[in-house]
Amino acid sequence: MLVFKTAQELRSCFKSNTQTVGMVPTMGALHEGHLSLVKKACEENDVVVVSIYINPTQFNKIADLEKYPSNFEKDKALLEPFSHQLLLYAPDHKEIYPEGIQSKTYNFGTIANHMEGAFRKGHFDGVATVVETLLRKIQPQNAYFGEKDFQQLKIIKALTTQKKLGITIVSCPIVREKDGLAMSSRNRLLSPEQRQAAPRIFASLGELKKKNFGKKVPLMEAFFKNEIAREKELEVEYFFVASTTDLIPVSVIEEGIDYRIFVAVFAGKTRLIDTVELGRI
Ligand code: PAF
Repeated sequence: MLVFKTAQELRSCFKSNTQTVGMVPTMGALHEGHLSLVKKACEENDVVVVSIYINPTQFNKIADLEKYPSNFEKDKALLEPFSHQLLLYAPDHKEIYPEGIQSKTYNFGTIANHMEGAFRKGHFDGVATVVETLLRKIQPQNAYFGEKDFQQLKIIKALTTQKKLGITIVSCPIVREKDGLAMSSRNRLLSPEQRQAAPRIFASLGELKKKNFGKKVPLMEAFFKNEIAREKELEVEYFFVASTTDLIPVSVIEEGIDYRIFVAVFAGKTRLIDTVELGRI
């Protein structure tokens, strides 16, 4: 597989302007969720660029950055089946942050203010900074992101519109383990006991959706927290229901609006997030 440290070298491999280029930005520690993005990108484009870059500015805690999993050789092996169509971009800090490792500041309005935006201060400025840089450097027609990070996805869509990048952002469904746990690079940080407890997150969301809480979100939250409390390995950080348009949390469900549930749960020191559609009433 061809691996490039600079976008300039990588882009010199593009054959013509008629070739469509898809991009899958990642932070490595690849899993089936990433591979589903790569597969879709390969189906929809002539060439696919996968980037692997652990972006320091999106981590609000240094300890979280330091323990973020990474295994470049394994990642390369997982991408090998796509190598006829794929270019791997593995930039260093100098390539991405030539002026020093620092986020830019963005204003995405309400979609950035709650959930991850509130609990991980500066996170979305870091994400937007690196994604804008990666997209400007590679200039793909299409870029692929997973719905597990639903808020991130909305922000990246807003970023490409705001900055007029002319790139289509393609959203891809969450890929889950057989027991329902949403795939995440962080899952490999879980102890066997935490890993066994973690599927309770998705299972509880499924149970919640079957019940009638009379449109009252605090009752849903209490139910979810109660379910999670059955696992001593897990602790809820947040539970929110927000409209999928503005991502503002609500306490009462209104008719005719699409909502999603957003949760963050700690398994020891590892933070897991998940989201499901609540649909309309
Ligand atoms: O979702 C991720 O893995 C990261 O946030 C991204 C989009 C690659 C930016 O670093």
